[in-house]
Amino acid sequence: MSEAFDALKAREQAAVMSTYGRYPLAVSAAKGCRLYDLDGREYIDLLGGIAVCNLGHCREEIAEVIAAKARELVHVSNLFYQREQVELAEALKATCHAGKVFFCNSGAEANEGAIKLARRYMRTVKERDAYEIITLTHSFHGRTLATLTATGQDKIKFGFDPLPEGFITVPSGDIEAMRAAIGPHTAAVLVECIQGEGGVNPLSKEYVTTLAALCKEKDILFMCDEVQCGMCRSGRFWAFQHYGVEPDVFTCSKALANGLPMGAVLATDAVAAGFAPGAHATTFGGGALVSAAATKTLAIMRDDCLAERAARMGDFAMALFEDVKAQCPGKIETIRGMGLMLGIVLTFPGSDVWKKLLDRGFVLNLTQGNVLRLLPPLVIEQEDLKLFASALADILGEV
Ligand SMILES: Cc1ncc(COP(=O)(O)O)c(C=O)c1O
Repeated sequence: MSEAFDALKAREQAAVMSTYGRYPLAVSAAKGCRLYDLDGREYIDLLGGIAVCNLGHCREEIAEVIAAKARELVHVSNLFYQREQVELAEALKATCHAGKVFFCNSGAEANEGAIKLARRYMRTVKERDAYEIITLTHSFHGRTLATLTATGQDKIKFGFDPLPEGFITVPSGDIEAMRAAIGPHTAAVLVECIQGEGGVNPLSKEYVTTLAALCKEKDILFMCDEVQCGMCRSGRFWAFQHYGVEPDVFTCSKALANGLPMGAVLATDAVAAGFAPGAHATTFGGGALVSAAATKTLAIMRDDCLAERAARMGDFAMALFEDVKAQCPGKIETIRGMGLMLGIVLTFPGSDVWKKLLDRGFVLNLTQGNVLRLLPPLVIEQEDLKLFASALADILGEV
């Protein structure tokens, strides 16, 4: 590592709380699908800020919108009507079946909002004492107390008890376990159609369609967490659209404003009636600057057909990685995912492979110990994927 990196690392350790297992890299600039470190070394970015910079880093049209809004209107609060927020809500509605949107600032806050909406809808509209939220093993829904309780992975709960009541986790893919868990107090089921952090696990079509029907039968809400798999990443605008289902509530964040912090809860008109003035709020949610950036992000996604591009490039990447698997027998267990949300599952712990890839200039994530997770900007070119596949094949040949 360079002197500049070591100095920054030491300053950080002295000043910033230690909550992240950081990569040995400090990014000083980014453009498109490239990152640059403190010494100007270039990296191919296959992580996109963890599924955030779907249009590529520092996209010119977004930079222009941000710069212009920064001089016109940044923030006034939700005490006021804001044209930019309304335009964004309309643009989001045009992508799906939802009738109303609530804006917030992150994925966890969006899921927190969805959980609150489900409970309040049951209490005020359905007049039922229904508050339980059922989630799946290997899920990830965030780090607030409610969303980490909802998350189906114990490792993130350690040290934070007592945890809020009213959450049940059932084995993913097991519809009978779900049926058994639903009771008189159940308000909603919350799932990621493609689990991200949990190892890139797409739920099966049969499971999701049966689950949505089960929720209808039991008169509880079917809710999807689209924080990671949404916004064109999976090859459709929303991942649930692959499954032919329409969740009563769904959440998004990450790529919504292509790098500015933003989240949203979307719901059908009927369910959105669970909220009333004063029921839920957040100071920054849907501010003019982020909303304008997000509206531009959505327009580019639509005009550039980014969902279709993600599907095409995902197929291309999948074929390349299948070749690598064939070239390196015994090293890759499987490759899974949809669109440009891909997991290369190694047959052994992957930290060495991950580090060698980083040393060769490829930034990606290792999740669950052995899954190389790729969430590149959706504008990535075939050439970059080929370079990565070739480096991966070399490295797997060595280990
Ligand atoms: C599916 C999913 N839900 C929720 C979250 C939490 O989002 P945030 O980190 O913005 O709170 C994440 C973050 O990775 C996620 O992948």
